[in-house]
Amino acid sequence: MALSAYVAQQSRGVPIAAGDDPELAPFVEKGHALFMQRQGQLNLACANCHDDNWDKKLAGSAITQAQPTGYPLYRLEWQSLGSLQRRLRACITGIRAQAYDYGSPELVELELYLMSRARGMPVETPAVRP
Ligand code: HEC
Repeated sequence: MALSAYVAQQSRGVPIAAGDDPELAPFVEKGHALFMQRQGQLNLACANCHDDNWDKKLAGSAITQAQPTGYPLYRLEWQSLGSLQRRLRACITGIRAQAYDYGSPELVELELYLMSRARGMPVETPAVRP
């Protein structure tokens, strides 16, 4: 994790270009489909919060548009540096769905889709969250 943060920090300020490669397009599309798919006991899709309600708060936390510009980042709740996959697993558990395994194709596709949403935004790694 420290090594990932160190390498990503070298790109601080560089515009994110994920999703520009046409060979990645099918995987971005799979990530998009996962983002739109309702799941878990709460039957919510990522989009229900991060597209439909990004200007609101949930239990005091800002719901963002889920552009992962700052990962890996330091999270006060974790008291450590954490990965984007850790963040995604927390959102999935939050809707009471079975979280995909670390390194699973689903998490990688979601990461890729989210990065393509952040296309053009500067890398901010390592960021800080509450
Ligand atoms: C019930 C609403 C809700 C759903 C559904 C949800 N999230 Fe989140 N998500 C949040 C909230 C609230 C936060 C901020 C949490 C915090 O800061 O403590 C967050 C944080 C994030 C972040 C971190 C943003 C940042 O800048 O650090 C990402 C990325 C993310 N969610 C992606 C997803 C994905 C992908 C899914 C679907 C698998 C998903 N979320 C489902 C509410 C939701």
